[in-house]
Amino acid sequence: MDTSDAQSDLVEVLFTEQQIHERLAEMAAEIEKDYQGKDLLIVGILKGAVMVMADLARSLTRHVEMDWMAISSYGSGTKSSGVVRILKDLDADISGRHVLIVDEIIDTGLTLSWLTSNLSSRGPASVAIATLLRKPEALTMPVEAKYVGWDIPNEFVVGYGLDYRERYRNLRDIGTLAPHVYS
Ligand code: PRP
Repeated sequence: MDTSDAQSDLVEVLFTEQQIHERLAEMAAEIEKDYQGKDLLIVGILKGAVMVMADLARSLTRHVEMDWMAISSYGSGTKSSGVVRILKDLDADISGRHVLIVDEIIDTGLTLSWLTSNLSSRGPASVAIATLLRKPEALTMPVEAKYVGWDIPNEFVVGYGLDYRERYRNLRDIGTLAPHVYS
């Protein structure tokens, strides 16, 4: 087992834990304003969204329900295959409810574009997206995100839920990986 320090594999920190918490608090305030008086179900997309869900939900002071989905967008090996499958569906029936999908990153847009239309077909009152990060240059599918933490360049980022080969999700900050890690 590799017991080296994960943080030391970052070449640059893009967002610190504190910056992330501050931004999520701002997003939570917007969400509370927009969904005032409405029933709200937030849906986290496993596994990457675990950290964002935990911190965003705790920044909300209103009642909110949490549910989870697991989705595979690597059907036949690569993301470009465009194959999306549900590995774990919602427990909740969303008909007539306001649904907010929470994810940590929109990259090509494939996952959330597919998921938005899937959830929209279940008769919810509304479906919207909150994402901590978005890569506008990488988008290949149209995805409308109502709440975006930051737009970032098309670079490989890890930490705070984002992984490289299942590692680095547990880093508190978000940063770019040193090339020696993947070369
Ligand atoms: C990430 C992220 C999004 C998706 C975005 O999940 O959580 O759901 O990729 O990429 P896209 O816009 O190109 O579809 P991933 O499939 O890496 O799974 P994970 O959350 O388990 O890491």
